[in-house]
Order: sequence, then C-alpha cells, then structure tokens
Amino acid sequence: MKDQAEGLRKMVGKSKPTSRIIAVTSGKGGVGKTNLAVNLGLALVQMGYRVALIDVDLGLANADILLGLIPDYNLEHVFRGEKELKDILIEGPLGLKLLAGGSGVSDLANLNGWRLEVFVNSLEELNSEFDFVFLDTGAGIHRNVISFVLATSEVLVVTTPEPTSVTDAYGLIKIVYKQNPEAKIRLVVNMAKKPKEAEDVAAKLNSVLRKFVLREVEYLGYILYDAQVRAAVAKQLPVLLASPSALTSRSIKRMAHVLVGTGPDTKPVGIKGFFSRVYDLLSI
Ligand SMILES: Nc1ncnc2c1ncn2[C@@H]1O[C@H](COP(=O)(O)OP(=O)(O)OP(=O)(O)O)[C@@H](O)[C@H]1O
Ligand SMILES: [Mg+2]
Repeated sequence: MKDQAEGLRKMVGKSKPTSRIIAVTSGKGGVGKTNLAVNLGLALVQMGYRVALIDVDLGLANADILLGLIPDYNLEHVFRGEKELKDILIEGPLGLKLLAGGSGVSDLANLNGWRLEVFVNSLEELNSEFDFVFLDTGAGIHRNVISFVLATSEVLVVTTPEPTSVTDAYGLIKIVYKQNPEAKIRLVVNMAKKPKEAEDVAAKLNSVLRKFVLREVEYLGYILYDAQVRAAVAKQLPVLLASPSALTSRSIKRMAHVLVGTGPDTKPVGIKGFFSRVYDLLSI
C-alpha cells in the first residue's frame, strides 16, 4: 500500500500547483466531516475562491443530500470510463461545484489500484479550474479512505472531544505521518461544548503525538455543538447559508481565513474590497 500511495502522490505532485487539494477525514465516523467540507467550501466561495467538493465517501456518499442536489452522474461513471470528472461537476449553492460520489455502489467501495489511478489522474484536469478542491472521505483507516488521504498533501482531520473519536484520530494521524512524512495535517475539533474543551483535546492529542510520533498537527479550530447544524441538515441546507450568523458559521469562516492564510490583511484590494474584507472580518 505504501508503494501505491507514493505513486499516487507523485501523480498528484506532477501537476502544476494551482489548486490546493485537501482531504477532509476522520478516524471515527459521524464526527462532522461532510458538514465541514461543504461549509468550509462555501466560506471560501464567499471569499471569492473557486471551490470544488468531491465526495469520495464511496458507498455512503451524501454531500449531495446536504447541498440539496440531485446529481445525474457520479464518480461511478468516471471510474467506468463513461464520463470525465469535469463533465459531471454540478453547480451547488453560490457556485460551489460538487462531484457526487457513487452512493450505494458497493463495488466502488472496493476500489482497486487501477481505478484509483484513473481518479487521481483526472484530478489533474481540475487543477487550473479551482483554487481549492476538497475531498470528503469516509471515516477510518480502510485502504480506500487512507489512499485518498495519502494521495493528497493537505489533510483536515476532524474529531469530536469524545475519547473514542480522539483515539481514532490519533491512529489515523500516526498512519498518515508514517506513510507520508511530508503531509500537512490540520485538526478540527467539532461538537465541542466550549472552546476550552476543544483546545484541551488538541493539546492532549499533540502531546501524545510529540511523544510517540515526534510530530504535531496544526490546530485549525473548533466548532461548538450547535442544534442549528442539525436543523440545517434536516432542511438540506448548509448551516452557513441557513444560519450565517450562527456561532458555527462564524467558526467555519474563521477557519477558511486561516486556511487561506489571508490573516488580517493582505494585498491591496481597492475600496470595495476593503469594505467587504472589513465586513468579512466583523462577521467571523
Ligand atoms: N457542530 C455540530 N453540532 C451539532 N451537530 C452536528 C455538528 N456537526 C455535525 N453535526 C451532526 O452530526 C451528524 C454527522 O455529521 P456529518 O454527516 O457531517 O459527519 P461525517 O463525519 O461526514 O459522517 P460519516 O462518517 O458518516 O461520513 C449530522 O447529523 C450533523 O447534523
Ligand atoms: Mg460524511
């Protein structure tokens, strides 16, 4: 598996570094990956970036449902060679592009090396079209999940404060660093009761990582447990659009800013840009 992962990484690395491909993953399931990928993507679109979301949670894909979209084609058609990635990208809210996964397609959940190679090759087609490409992966350290994660150089690991979730995140991070020492891994603590709880989780995880893996992860931020997320999901609306001023939405916008590395100020953007930046900063 290591050889395959290295091969895939080289393929991804060969392309011009135009889009940042970021895998959103977790050790334990149901921790909020899809919600984070969708809303972080939308926050970046709001900041003027071109963003695509690819649902690679094969077999259990559901990003389309969260976005209220009904795709005609999905990754299955790409793997079968019937469509190319760019043909099956559909437009979601605000112009966020989605490439739907093959929900319920069990054989896709057992991707072989060749199919994965086809997929990674076709990622290159998207390179000039997007600033960010998020891969919403399944949970766990199964080969299919880990292959996507190892093929990308930037990884967002999501955990909740639950010990089981943190332990699984640790296991996953250990594997990623072992197989891809160059990986840039960032941590998001979701469903925290308060910011301090999330910070403690990140600090504890990093102290164990320092001790046993001799590495750390960058703590990107927290999202508090928020009933509005569930309410938004029930409406098939991303929380960022359903409740833009909710704490969750503001946390996600803050993460988007950190991710971009814009910080408080960057290049000149004109008066209009200045005011929209002020507005952005005030609303995060
Ligand atoms: N901050 C939050 N507060 C409250 N509920 C949340 C929060 N984040 C996510 N949820 C809820 O948790 C559930 C799981 O979220 P999501 O589908 O994003 O997780 P996932 O990690 O993608 O799951 P899977 O491993 O199945 O792909 C959803 O019902 C969602 O509404
Ligand atoms: Mg998911």
